[in-house]
Amino acid sequence: MSTTPASTEPLKFAYWVPNVSGGLVISDIEQRTGWDYDYNKRLARTAEDNGFEYALTQVRYTASYGAAHQHEATSFSLALLLATERLKVISAVHPYMWHPGVLAKFIATADHLSNGRAAINVVSGWFKDEATSMGVRWLEHGERYRMAEEFISYIREIWTEDNAQFRGDFFQLRDFEMLPKPLDLPGRPLPEIFQGGNSSVAQEMAGRVSDWYFANGNTPDGIERQIEGVTRSARAAGRTVRFGVNGFMVARDSEAEAHATLEEIIAKANPEAVEGFGNAVKQAGQSTGDRTGMWQGSDFADLVQYNDGFRTGLVGTPEQVAHRMLEFKRRGVDLFLLGFLHFQEEVEHFGRHVLPIVRELEAAEQERVA
Ligand SMILES: Cc1cc2nc3c(=O)[nH]c(=O)nc-3n(C[C@H](O)[C@H](O)[C@H](O)COP(=O)(O)O)c2cc1C
Repeated sequence: MSTTPASTEPLKFAYWVPNVSGGLVISDIEQRTGWDYDYNKRLARTAEDNGFEYALTQVRYTASYGAAHQHEATSFSLALLLATERLKVISAVHPYMWHPGVLAKFIATADHLSNGRAAINVVSGWFKDEATSMGVRWLEHGERYRMAEEFISYIREIWTEDNAQFRGDFFQLRDFEMLPKPLDLPGRPLPEIFQGGNSSVAQEMAGRVSDWYFANGNTPDGIERQIEGVTRSARAAGRTVRFGVNGFMVARDSEAEAHATLEEIIAKANPEAVEGFGNAVKQAGQSTGDRTGMWQGSDFADLVQYNDGFRTGLVGTPEQVAHRMLEFKRRGVDLFLLGFLHFQEEVEHFGRHVLPIVRELEAAEQERVA
């Protein structure tokens, strides 16, 4: 039985911004998803009209497993913020690529320009060659997380204190004042800080410093274990953390059609790219002594959606997908981070056909417990 009570708040939804080419699956199946700004502007506006509260922009500097072209995350996020009215845009950032003071300032400005809709996703990285070929030192797994924790603490200090001080091994602050601070809104005192990672160090760190923990795709049991790990750490720090889980959604009129689409994605996977990616990411997590890092248990089919999005099982009719989402909510999930084959069409389809069922099921569940 879950030790983390399900939230009484409605589920929240985010989508992966396709700011890199090639879509969200490493497959030669036809994908009607663009990565250019015009496509993304239209998608962002469609998403905010179809129940999406957040969008997550990916950070990548060079090609890998396809993804031949990539738009930079923070500038792309700002452009999307300026093209929308309600959508909160989360920009992924690697702590080893940024000076935290520069990022704190960038996000504070983006927050003012967007009336308080800027957010970040701090990711510790897996792509060693990307960093080293750019001349950036690659730290081992535990050290990347130690750096990420200092990075977040430093940014919070600048965002909240008039006379900011921080003494860490990676970053230092002395008598620093940054103005303007980000906007202080009801229920959102600062831009939200998300964090992606599955390993036990990631869970402990999220409990201590992050607002949100993002998990790769997983089963309800697998997610529940992570939520328990993060919650333990958060309780010890007197904090609460919210949970998002990645899921690749294939909602179709019939169950057979949905599963046939998934099978076609996997059948048309590019084996070299999938295996190359699998080796790189498993290597990145090897140094976690307990082998709890992301992708440790992923097989070939899982890796075709490179954040294990098939494992979440959001495949079937709108009813089936909505019921599956409620199962995750009961285990403590607050948000779904969704990917699709054809983003524009499927984001609209989600708003029209899946979301209303999710809301009905949530209302029925509330009545049952009231
Ligand atoms: C939701 C989510 C989004 C991520 N986005 C990115 C990204 O945009 N760029 C990147 O290099 N890594 C990204 N990562 C991967 C992380 O950088 C990191 O490699 C991963 O969290 C491994 O952590 P672990 O070893 O603690 O499990 C993301 C991870 C998650 C869960």
